Amino acid sequence: MKRKPLIAGNWKMNTSTDEAVSLVKEMLAELEKSTNVEVTLCPPFISLIPLYDLVSLSSISLGAQNMHYEEKGAFTGEISALMLKPFCKYVIIGHSERRQLFGETNEIINKKLQKALEVGITPILCLGETLEHRNSGCAEKMIINQLRASLGNIRDISSMVIAYEPIWAIGTGINAGVNEVSLIMDAIRRAISDFYGQPSAERLRLLYGGSVNSHNAIDYLSSGTIDGALVGGASLKAQQFTGIVKQASQVGC
Ligand code: PGA
Repeated sequence: MKRKPLIAGNWKMNTSTDEAVSLVKEMLAELEKSTNVEVTLCPPFISLIPLYDLVSLSSISLGAQNMHYEEKGAFTGEISALMLKPFCKYVIIGHSERRQLFGETNEIINKKLQKALEVGITPILCLGETLEHRNSGCAEKMIINQLRASLGNIRDISSMVIAYEPIWAIGTGINAGVNEVSLIMDAIRRAISDFYGQPSAERLRLLYGGSVNSHNAIDYLSSGTIDGALVGGASLKAQQFTGIVKQASQVGC
């Protein structure tokens, strides 16, 4: 089954609203030329509304970098899926920075996934192993455990996206080899097929993240096992990001 590639830009805690607007203005026309690929931008929360005004008539969608699993209430500093819904098609859930720096457990991630699906925002679930796990040869086992624990008793994952992001490759310039990524992607797809059946596994888009740039993106995108990329640093540079999107469009359908 051919899956349309998805390129997601994770801007993390970067850009003022003015910078965010300028960056999108710089990229928009170029991004729109690439038709065989889906593009989503995940800016800081406060830029979602000004950027929505810019992209709402285009093919580019927006995503959030995080959300709370409750819909409203006394959760100072948090943003709910219901608040994001008018602006966001996607939400990144369980990024390793959230897991490591903000204590997000698989249980919390599971609640967030459930709420995002209930509200109708597509979650991009992030999974990734540490360098220790990679070096001790148990990366695959760790990823599948993380997958199982994050999904919990969720019954329908038809609209979910999964991003495999080895922690040691994020922001380091040391990207994982295509073959080692492909092995993990195959393992994830097999596990999804076991849990949810073959059709769900075939529909599922699996992204790679970790030091993706316009020079190495094509290696991943043309592998046949990787359906797109979650891009951090390079998504803040117009030329880099549009270059990645263009490559995805060349291999896309
Ligand atoms: P990077 O980040 O592309 O800067 O490695 C990826 C991510 O954290 O999603």
